[in-house]
Amino acid sequence: MRVLVIGSGGREHALAWRLAASPSVRTVVAWPGNGGTALAGWTPPDLPPADADAVALAGRLQAQLVVLGPEAPLVAGLADRLRAAGIAVCGPGADGARLEGSKVFAKQFMQRHGVPTAAARTVTDAAELDAALDAVADVVVKADGLAAGKGVLLPESREAARRAALAMLDGSAFGDAGRRLLVEERLTGRELSLLAVCDGRDYLLLPASQDHKRAGEGDRGPNTGGMGAYCPVPGVDGAEMARLAELVFAPTLAGLAEEGIDYRGLLYAGLMMTPAGPRVLEYNCRFGDPETQAVLPMLDGDLGRLLASAAAGALDRGAVTARPGAAITVVMAAAGYPGPCEKGRPVTGLDPGEEPDRQVFHAGTRRDGERILTAGGRVLAVTARAADLAGAAARCYERLAGIGFEGAWYRRDIGWQVLAAAGGGDE
Ligand code: AMP
Ligand code: GLY
Repeated sequence: MRVLVIGSGGREHALAWRLAASPSVRTVVAWPGNGGTALAGWTPPDLPPADADAVALAGRLQAQLVVLGPEAPLVAGLADRLRAAGIAVCGPGADGARLEGSKVFAKQFMQRHGVPTAAARTVTDAAELDAALDAVADVVVKADGLAAGKGVLLPESREAARRAALAMLDGSAFGDAGRRLLVEERLTGRELSLLAVCDGRDYLLLPASQDHKRAGEGDRGPNTGGMGAYCPVPGVDGAEMARLAELVFAPTLAGLAEEGIDYRGLLYAGLMMTPAGPRVLEYNCRFGDPETQAVLPMLDGDLGRLLASAAAGALDRGAVTARPGAAITVVMAAAGYPGPCEKGRPVTGLDPGEEPDRQVFHAGTRRDGERILTAGGRVLAVTARAADLAGAAARCYERLAGIGFEGAWYRRDIGWQVLAAAGGGDE
């Protein structure tokens, strides 16, 4: 099978890596790709630029499966256009991608179908905003549309919430994506990322993972796209997975089918385990980043066969199995991230990119001859797997210590709750 992976982050590097190792896959092309996919030969230099037409490229490559990484093209309907051209796609059409593309749609969908979620009000003007802020003491403000992962704010006070929300409503914060927003009750609890491969009717849950979204250690500071993740999550055993499947994924898939949405691709539920039970914070219509970099190394079998079966509407549940042990991924970011960052810094210490159970996935990098230069905020994601999380973390941080570029930083406490509970100290 010839597979085209669309996207340029660490998630897509990990997907290309696992697909290239799949028995069913003969060729992998990652486009537009990054420095890592270029070094691995999955992004040949003659591919068209990032703004070229993906349907034409998939046709030219005679791709038999397209795996869509990022949300923006999914929300814009790229999967529909590929399917219309007769190409199998792992990724929902624009109708299903609204679960991520509109937080208001997702909230109403969950309310319609009995999926447990935080209470929220939809707000489109200052009067509705004041009424919503009066109704709940502690809030989260969420821009309705896509805002590159930055549209969720956790304000410190009512005044800060009001200011931030007004900047969304007048378009100054996130353009049209913020002209409608949700004011949502703020919940507390551990977060969990669950990824399900869906074929329109049936779904297969992948091992649970946890992302660390905040920039600072101890999970403080501004939200980011994700600074690291680990898989699996202790305590989320088979019985708990079955309970979460029943509570969240069964009604979601049934609701999609009921609304005539043929959802073929990844469905990601971001959960918070509150004292009152699990609540869905968000859906994503794609693989998580960096969760994917920790989840895929925990799978044995044929990822290509799994994703192709989902695209074909006939899920092959036996295509992959979970491996024992634990995996961790830690993101190395550029100075300034999650704000504006400097680019073009040479990265050193990348060899070897891959060892048994240890990979250096590239995210914001580009190849410049023999050099790799930084080209984004999240630059690399280093993943290691071992018998337990403490062992995986030790191997991961050992590898990170050998890599560098000017201004590089990473969180040293990924997995800290689990490691502390296991008695392994704080790292
Ligand atoms: P989202 O993009 O919706 O996942 O939100 C990003 C992050 O904001 C989540 O991972 C949570 O850490 C936090 N968050 C979102 N919604 C809530 C909520 N209702 N209560 C508390 N934290 C939240
Ligand atoms: N790591 C969170 C996300 O992919 O949205």
